[in-house]
Amino acid sequence: MKILTILGARPQFIKAGSVSREIAKRSEIQETIVHTGQHYDANMSDIFFDEMKIPKPDYFLGIGGKSHGAMTGQMIEKIEEVCLKEKPDWVMVYGDTNSTLAGAIVASKLHIKLAHIEAGLRSFNMKMPEEVNRILTDRVSQILFCPTDTAVENLKNEGYDNLDVKVIKSGDVMQDGAIFYKSLAQKLSCDIQDNFILCTIHRAENTDDATRLKNIFKALNEIAKETQIILPLHPRTKKIIDELQIDTKNLTIIDPVGYLEMVWLIDNCSLVMTDSGGLQKEAYFFQKQCITLRDETEWVELVENGFNTLVGADYEKILKAYQTSTAFRSKELDLYGSGRASQKIISELLVYEL
Ligand code: UD1
Ligand code: UDP
Repeated sequence: MKILTILGARPQFIKAGSVSREIAKRSEIQETIVHTGQHYDANMSDIFFDEMKIPKPDYFLGIGGKSHGAMTGQMIEKIEEVCLKEKPDWVMVYGDTNSTLAGAIVASKLHIKLAHIEAGLRSFNMKMPEEVNRILTDRVSQILFCPTDTAVENLKNEGYDNLDVKVIKSGDVMQDGAIFYKSLAQKLSCDIQDNFILCTIHRAENTDDATRLKNIFKALNEIAKETQIILPLHPRTKKIIDELQIDTKNLTIIDPVGYLEMVWLIDNCSLVMTDSGGLQKEAYFFQKQCITLRDETEWVELVENGFNTLVGADYEKILKAYQTSTAFRSKELDLYGSGRASQKIISELLVYEL
């Protein structure tokens, strides 16, 4: 069986690490990796391939730093060329980025079977580019691997029971990674206090709205007077902060870090504040409370169970959530599977082929 894996952005490298390790155990599967180039800086891309021991991409398309249309369009053209040459049995895509959508469109037009990992998630906010990408990708897939019960339920509500598509609850591949990489965590060399908050911000809904971004940083600057905030800064956010000359003086801003350092930061922080999708779950994996700087989340089970507080970009709400935050309250829950999602995904693909 020949799988063509499409990767392009940081969270996809992290998710694919676990699945690629699983594929490597099966002699009956060959994986060809296409890196679209959506993320291209060394610390947004290469470091993950090295640390996670993902095989070097067979194809590097070099399509990054462009508008949605230019990026997705050029990816479609190039991925199509690769598919025509490689003739895979499956195209495999992860998550909800423009690279995901490009891979989905090519596979569906060429009648190649499409597997979507992290399917069924919804924010119900159609202004998010990710929401559009995930809805369109789900709709043209043959097999949908859902990380949560909510994701399965979302698809049911959209009528997927009546479609010729296999919906499988696989659990979350990020859980697999968190377990695997925990023992490999690496401490950073920057000045870190005993008690610190880990923060990341990169979502378009925050970076592309000056009022939201300013409110968030005003609140962070205030909190940082009391508790150190370490913020590995995404290049998109860095660019806009510089343009708007937003004050970050109280924050410990560092370049994006590799995953092994990130795991150390998550494991050792006292609180996570983020607008990242992946980091909301990782906070839970490492038993940390999370304050989410968004108006809604796809990971609703974290909010419902009291592990995550949604505060949007509201200055008062951010401060209040910080002031009232408590220690993580452990509960016997299995929200994201037991860390064997990759194994399940590969087994199901092999069964599908029979
Ligand atoms: C993308 C995804 C988002 C995901 C995020 C993970 C889409 C629509 N968005 O957002 O869902 O959460 O990746 O990080 O696919 N840049 C660099 N160097 C890089 C990468 C990006 O400088 O290595 C800068 C470029 O100016 C680029 C901008 O960041 O234009 C935005 O990058 P892009 O890939 O378009 O979107 P992200 O914000 O990273
Ligand atoms: N991450 C990382 N280094 C960083 C920032 C994030 O390794 O400097 C990891 C993070 O732990 C998570 C993944 O990148 O596993 C999430 O990526 P991101 O927040 O960019 O995207 P999202 O999950 O929101 O799509």
